[in-house]
Amino acid sequence: MALPSADRKALVAGGTGRVGSAIVERLRAEGWQVLAAGSADGDLRTRAGAARLVERARAELGSLDLVVHCAGAGFIPSSLAEVTEESWDEAMDVTAKGTFFLAQAAAPDLRATRGLLVIVEDVASFQAWTSFPAHSAAKAAQAMLTRVLARALAPEARVCGIAPGPVAVEPGQEERRAAETLLGRVGSPEDVADAVVYLTGAGYVTGTTLVVDGGRLLQTGHLRRP
Ligand SMILES: NC(=O)c1ccc[n+]([C@@H]2O[C@H](COP(=O)([O-])OP(=O)(O)OC[C@H]3O[C@@H](n4cnc5c(N)ncnc54)[C@H](OP(=O)(O)O)[C@@H]3O)[C@@H](O)[C@H]2O)c1
Repeated sequence: MALPSADRKALVAGGTGRVGSAIVERLRAEGWQVLAAGSADGDLRTRAGAARLVERARAELGSLDLVVHCAGAGFIPSSLAEVTEESWDEAMDVTAKGTFFLAQAAAPDLRATRGLLVIVEDVASFQAWTSFPAHSAAKAAQAMLTRVLARALAPEARVCGIAPGPVAVEPGQEERRAAETLLGRVGSPEDVADAVVYLTGAGYVTGTTLVVDGGRLLQTGHLRRP
């Protein structure tokens, strides 16, 4: 991806959110042209919505060197018994289905530019959170898609995941979430943006997930059964 910075074009789905807006800001600071998309720009719960979003990006930017899936919904704690069909679909649709159909729609563009798809996962992709059963399942699906899509789009395009730990936590939760990490502090959306920028330049990296979690995956002492 050795393009002059002014020629590099990115679509960030979820670019209006807490993590996504930091990615957008960082890419723009690095000279990228970016379409920062929210739910009104294309509903990632449907194949047609994902296709519309990519069409719009094509129309506005002309080509795509980078697509980031950073959209999310349905991150609501619930026990096994509390999960409904609606809450299951809410957690799965934007995350798992949305990742797949965004990739399907953008695949020709990314192949043409030898570009990169980045999927923002979660440490829940790798950890069984009993308080977030549907979210954990959706994130595990995303992590598998990182690998499936990397094989499907190779050798022309690369696909990588980023699994953040607590980087944008609810107000008042900082201390508790910090204690869940080895580093003893929460991160920031900018930590995820750093990882995106790294991956854009890491031309020999594909099919893998970069964990950006302050050691959250290794800090198992706090995990309890609910
Ligand atoms: N926050 C964290 O600490 C953390 C930790 C680990 C992983 N993550 C992951 O990072 C990603 C972003 O999280 P966040 O905290 O930034 O979330 P957020 O602030 O709630 O932002 C969610 C984004 O998704 C978009 N979105 C929601 N429903 C959509 C739909 N149906 N179609 C298209 N876009 C839709 C939103 O658009 P609108 O603005 O239009 O609603 C918004 O841009 C998620 O995948 C999340 O699991 C976050």
